[in-house]
Amino acid sequence: MKTVRVSASKNYDVIIDNGIIDRAGELSAKVIKPCHAAILTDDTVNGLYRDRLVGSLRGAGFETEVFVIEHGEQSKSDLNYIKFLNFMASKHITRSDCVFALGGGVVGDLAGFAAATYLRGIGFIQIPTTLLAMVDSSVGGKTAIDLEAGKNLVGAFYQPSLVLCDPETLSTLSPEIFSDGCAEVIKYGIINDRALFDRLKNPIMPQIEDIIENCVRNKRDIVDLDEKDNGVRQLLNLGHTAAHAIEQCSGFEISHGKAVAMGMVIISKAAAAMGLCPEEDYEEIRRLIEEYSLPTTCPYSASRLAQIAAVDKKRTGGSINLIIPYGIGNSKIYPVPVLQVESIFEMGL
Ligand SMILES: NC(=O)c1ccc[n+]([C@@H]2O[C@H](COP(=O)([O-])OP(=O)(O)OC[C@H]3O[C@@H](n4cnc5c(N)ncnc54)[C@H](O)[C@@H]3O)[C@@H](O)[C@H]2O)c1
Ligand SMILES: [Zn+2]
Repeated sequence: MKTVRVSASKNYDVIIDNGIIDRAGELSAKVIKPCHAAILTDDTVNGLYRDRLVGSLRGAGFETEVFVIEHGEQSKSDLNYIKFLNFMASKHITRSDCVFALGGGVVGDLAGFAAATYLRGIGFIQIPTTLLAMVDSSVGGKTAIDLEAGKNLVGAFYQPSLVLCDPETLSTLSPEIFSDGCAEVIKYGIINDRALFDRLKNPIMPQIEDIIENCVRNKRDIVDLDEKDNGVRQLLNLGHTAAHAIEQCSGFEISHGKAVAMGMVIISKAAAAMGLCPEEDYEEIRRLIEEYSLPTTCPYSASRLAQIAAVDKKRTGGSINLIIPYGIGNSKIYPVPVLQVESIFEMGL
């Protein structure tokens, strides 16, 4: 069992252990009085893990209600948000009760935003079941839903009271969704953890618990310094300016993880071309991404990507903060005028 303590506006533990889902009741009861639990999950995870979570919570004295959404990003919607709030109201969930998110990032983001806003905020516990959710979305307190105009346009910073990661649940993930999560794992290595990057050259599954802990520590360290995303937290956007544009160009046919993989290759190649990153580090980054069956070439032109990046919500005035690797484990924020983004992407394609 591994525990990482997060000290943001709220202190909480991220606990990583095989089979921990069966102890969710007992562990939750240590941070919140057994209460009425509103569990949000999706139709895939529901069939796989709901009974174990419900059994464990009931065994510890929680009363449970389960709300199931369809799997997929389209469920992170205003409609499901309102439906879930109405569901909680109909079940008489009160201020002293708690939302449990059982699933990937879609469930976590929607459940977190509902928990943040229902009765102006009730308890919230995350039980992430994808690699991406374990290493990224369940830690750090960003919650959101999508609007037709774009992803994550409505949300709140709302920290959970506890995060329980059960690496065994990763065994039921499709290889595609698992490797999407690997892109974010590799990202932490490139940002500021050369040792993690090197460990990833060995097979990931035998060391998955350590790797998850390592990534959570990395995210925790960044979030502790900059919870509200005004400074160093932007480092977590490595590869993401291009990735968001790639996802959009593909009409969201290209998954986030694959787009991040392409985005990291583009920015490292560009950094090497600009003389900021050693060429061999760029080569190493590309090779590792390939080893994880993630794509390293992008089908879109620099001008299309730059056009979309220019209206990215992360833009501030006339410039965009790109995250540039100056070498593996040494990435920095690099503000560039919007007009220069195209030529930087061009160097990376
Ligand atoms: N809040 C944050 O800081 C943050 C950070 C990164 C990403 N996100 C958000 O996270 C979302 C993506 O998360 P995701 O990749 O986990 O997607 P997801 O929640 O859609 O899960 C991917 C798929 O895996 C299935 N699944 C989940 N767990 C499973 C399991 N154990 N076994 C079998 N199938 C399982 C789901 O049903 C779904 O079909 C996006 O909406 C993104 O915006 C949020
Ligand atoms: Zn990401």
